Amino acid sequence: MLEPKFTNRLKNGTDVTVQTINSCDEKCIANEFSKLSDQSKYMRFFSSINKLSPSQLKYLTDIDNVNHVLITISKLGEDDQSGMGLGRYIRLKEQHHIAELAITVADRYQHQGVGTLLLELLIEHAKGNSIEVLQGYVLKSNMPMLKLFELHHFKHSGTEDGLPKYELHLER
Ligand SMILES: CC(C)(COP(=O)(O)OP(=O)(O)OC[C@H]1O[C@@H](n2cnc3c(N)ncnc32)[C@H](O)[C@@H]1OP(=O)(O)O)[C@@H](O)C(=O)NCCC(=O)NCCS
Repeated sequence: MLEPKFTNRLKNGTDVTVQTINSCDEKCIANEFSKLSDQSKYMRFFSSINKLSPSQLKYLTDIDNVNHVLITISKLGEDDQSGMGLGRYIRLKEQHHIAELAITVADRYQHQGVGTLLLELLIEHAKGNSIEVLQGYVLKSNMPMLKLFELHHFKHSGTEDGLPKYELHLER
């Protein structure tokens, strides 16, 4: 299991604070949204949206640290917990050993290793939380996320609603 709060260093030498947070309300989601370009929002939510629906908001704010885990990264010393990015995984209701993950890195901090660190932390956390399979959906055009999955040995496992699905079977 991860410590709730600790420091780490990106590959470019930037010191960061990592936190596993217990709540992220509507304001917190709006804050995440505000740091994403239209292109990044599209890559994350698979459509051109500027506002989340009430059901999406409920889904994204229902954090309990067991079934829905949220990990944030900020620059060391900065207050905004998810200033650089955040990653989450959510257990499937019908299959508790499987969880779906998603990562968003603020546009100004992309390609600096934040996504890599978030993915590695999500994998580590999931291993200690009885998750056996981590899965994620990614658009075919999302080269950075496809590369991230490839580098971490996720395998293409099918297509749902036109979206390629990737999964990683976790070793204990
Ligand atoms: C996809 C995303 C999470 C990647 O995060 P990131 O912090 O930019 O990724 P990293 O810096 O850790 O890069 C990981 C690898 O991806 C590749 N990569 C990153 N940005 C890239 C780009 N713009 N073009 C091509 N490859 C890229 C590189 O291979 C990189 O490894 P390298 O730095 O050793 O070359 C980030 O771009 C993002 O939040 N995008 C918008 C939301 C989204 O698409 N989320 C994924 C849906 S779940």
